[in-house]
Amino acid sequence: MDAVTAILTRRSIRKYRSEAVPESIIKELIQCAMSAPSAGNQQPWHFIVITDREALNSVADFHPHAQMLKDAPAAILVCADTSLERYKDYWVQDCSAATQNMLIAAHAIGLGAVWLGIYPRQERVNDIRSLMNLPDSVMPLSLISFGYPAESKEPAERFSLSRIHYDRW
Ligand SMILES: Cc1cc2nc3c(=O)[nH]c(=O)nc-3n(C[C@H](O)[C@H](O)[C@H](O)COP(=O)(O)O)c2cc1C
Repeated sequence: MDAVTAILTRRSIRKYRSEAVPESIIKELIQCAMSAPSAGNQQPWHFIVITDREALNSVADFHPHAQMLKDAPAAILVCADTSLERYKDYWVQDCSAATQNMLIAAHAIGLGAVWLGIYPRQERVNDIRSLMNLPDSVMPLSLISFGYPAESKEPAERFSLSRIHYDRW
């Protein structure tokens, strides 16, 4: 699948088959995340691969929109070590770019995935911080729930000429 097709056909997938995703494929997803652009190339990201059933269920218990984790074989928590930041407060954009790279790559290689928002919801940040034992300098941005898809969705058509401006608003 070429990159444009992957971007135009990606959808959030929240139903998964039960089989595990091989470690090599999870590493490939993270390689795609680490290829993302970042401010001044600061690459503040860290990734926690979560396959422990109890941990996945615990996130679903506190996150109001993450019930799919109860059936997901795996998730990846995208975090930033803010002590690595040379360009203050750009970590959100850096980690968002990494998250989106993984979503597109997951779709391109036949997985289904969905972005689960953590930051800036303080209660979710606190809950995931204590569950994952994050150091104080580490901020969680997003959690990607993924697995082999048990649903398929049509591409979304969101192109809107009314949102495009030329030379000025
Ligand atoms: C910052 C962000 C936070 C999101 N949080 C959640 C979430 O907590 N739970 C969920 O099921 N989907 C979540 N989504 C997925 C959106 O609901 C989804 O991308 C949107 O409805 C568009 O659908 P699509 O991804 O299928 O194109 C989130 C997406 C983004 C970008």
